[in-house]
Amino acid sequence: MSKILVLPGDGIGKEIIAQALKVINRLNDEFNLDMELIKGLIGGAAYDETGSPLPQETINLAHDCDSILLGAVGGYEWESLERDLRPERGLLGLREEMDLYANLRPAILYPQLASASSLKEELVSGLDLMIVRELVAGIYFGSPRGVIEKNGQSFGFNTATYYQSEIERIGHSAFQIAQKRDKRVCSVDKANVLEVCELWRETMENVAKSYPDVELSHIYVDNAAMQLVKEPKQFDVMVTSNLFGDILSDCAAMLTGSIGMLPSASLNKDNYGMYEPIHGSAPDIAGKDIANPLATILSVAMMLRYSLGQAKIADKVGMAVNVVLDQGYRTKDIAADGDKVVGTEEMGDLVVSALQ
Ligand code: IPM
Ligand code: MG
Repeated sequence: MSKILVLPGDGIGKEIIAQALKVINRLNDEFNLDMELIKGLIGGAAYDETGSPLPQETINLAHDCDSILLGAVGGYEWESLERDLRPERGLLGLREEMDLYANLRPAILYPQLASASSLKEELVSGLDLMIVRELVAGIYFGSPRGVIEKNGQSFGFNTATYYQSEIERIGHSAFQIAQKRDKRVCSVDKANVLEVCELWRETMENVAKSYPDVELSHIYVDNAAMQLVKEPKQFDVMVTSNLFGDILSDCAAMLTGSIGMLPSASLNKDNYGMYEPIHGSAPDIAGKDIANPLATILSVAMMLRYSLGQAKIADKVGMAVNVVLDQGYRTKDIAADGDKVVGTEEMGDLVVSALQ
């Protein structure tokens, strides 16, 4: 039996998680998977109920479970709270608490959706790229940080920090993933300006020595952004720091036509993972039954593959999503002329039926 902590969070989180749970319940029935679902609070929803975006109860549950399925956090109503109480702190705190340093963000173009990309079809057709983002260090967590009074005015500062060991472990994750793919790692940094990136580059070179079958290249982050929109198919695995990965993964996701399609995994050294769609809580469309639940459903597939040792069943979930797309069903975000536009609930039901 595996225990899954389910954290719907805010905005569209509840609606999309509800669809993923239908899929899990179906898999439980069909394949005797015995996944136990335990609901918890995070983000603004947790703040409203408990006064904290990451209640101790949620931390305890996270330690007690085998993996986490998360919807999304954040919303307008919590934006003016003091920083430590904002929904995003819940997510960052959980990443840190569980040491989920390896964030895998695939950008895969579904052939059925090629026309939804903002790039020309020939540039993106067949796109299959994996961004490996360091998730628990770098400027997101470095100290000192703050806003103080200095020289008669306000002064804000953050610090981009990496220990060699923190770079090494994300490097190993990236190389090991590349070994199962096209065996190419491109490390993204800003070593021409930042010392911390010099260490990053040098450390990646050293890690590469353990993987003679994988080719390592380096690119500056500004050029990486340019290359991603110019010729995205040149990349196999990209490995990068927390902040650069945040930015580049949104860019890569959009190349595929819809950020509503892409799942992610955040893993620790034991492959304990938190699984969530790449997109956010989209408060502007919450409660309207138009959000795309496929990224969350595909996050369940990633969970089966990476944390629960059920690769074959993960494939079945992926295939079910393909069947539904082949049948021409689309949520609004990925729909083109002639498609059958369906809502969040119906899309969830369609995937469940395609699983049978
Ligand atoms: C992401 C998000 C988060 C991040 C926010 C919500 C804190 O943008 O997962 O990419 O910046 O890491
Ligand atoms: Mg982001």
